[in-house]
Amino acid sequence: MSTPTLDKNSAALDAAEDGASHLINVTFRIRRFNPEISEDASWEDFQLEIDPKERVLDALHKIKWDQDGSLTFRRSCAHGICGSDAMRINGRNRLACKTLIKDINPEKPITVEAIKGLTVLKDLVVDMEPFFQAYRDVMPFLITTGNEPTRERRQSAEDRERFDDTTKCILCAACTSSCPVFWNDGQYFGPAAIVNAHRFIFDSRDEGGEQRLEILNDKDGVWRCRTTFNCTDACPRGIEVTKAIQEVKRALITRRF
Ligand code: SF4
Ligand code: FES
Repeated sequence: MSTPTLDKNSAALDAAEDGASHLINVTFRIRRFNPEISEDASWEDFQLEIDPKERVLDALHKIKWDQDGSLTFRRSCAHGICGSDAMRINGRNRLACKTLIKDINPEKPITVEAIKGLTVLKDLVVDMEPFFQAYRDVMPFLITTGNEPTRERRQSAEDRERFDDTTKCILCAACTSSCPVFWNDGQYFGPAAIVNAHRFIFDSRDEGGEQRLEILNDKDGVWRCRTTFNCTDACPRGIEVTKAIQEVKRALITRRF
C-alpha cells in the first residue's frame, strides 16, 4: 500500500505533466566533500518540498539558501549557456539548470555529485584547469597567414555548415568527464578539446589545420578515443561528439579537411 506522501507526489507529478503547479517531497542525496573538515567524501540527504517543474539548480539554491549555506557548486547563467553547472545527476552527466525534477524520477532520492575525472575541490566544484589546458593546447582560434583583409573573411553557406555542429560547444566538460579513457588517464586531450579543434580544422578560412592535426596525432590525442559514445550521450548541446572525433581521425589519415 502506498504512503500518503507517495500518493501526494504521484498526484503532483501528474498535475505537473498538465502544467499545473503542486509541491512534492523530494530527497536530494548530495556527495559532500570539504578538505578542511575531512579527507573523505560522504553522502548527505536533504528533504525539500518543491514544484517538480523546477530544475535541479533551483533545488540546489533552495538547499543552499534555506538549509546549508556551505553547499558549494558553480553556476552562472542558469539557462544552459555558460556551461558551469555540469554535474552527475542520478549517475549521468547533465546541466543542473537544464534538468527538470519531474524528468528524473523524484519518487526516489535524486543523487547529485561532482563530474568524474577531475579533482574535486569542494562538494560539486572540480578543478577545471586540466580541462581548459587541453582546450588551449589545440589552439581554439582562427589562424591565418598573409595580410589582414580589408573586409570580413567570406565563406559559402556549405563551408559554414561543415563545422556548424561543433560551434555549439559551451565547454561544460560533460563529455570529457563521462569518458572512461579520461577517467583512467588524465593525459588524454578528451572529447571537448577535439570538438573545439574540429571547429577550426574544418573552417575553410583557417590555415592552422595541419598544426592542430599534429597536436592531436600525439599519443594522448585522438587515437586514445575508444568510440564508447558516452560523450555524445552526455552533451547537453546535442553535439555529435563521437562523429566529430571520427572526422578528425579521418582527416589525420587522409590529410583532407
Ligand atoms: S562538446 Fe558538449 S558536452 Fe562537451 S564540453 Fe562541449 S557542450 Fe559540453
Ligand atoms: S548555469 Fe550556465 S549552463 Fe547551467
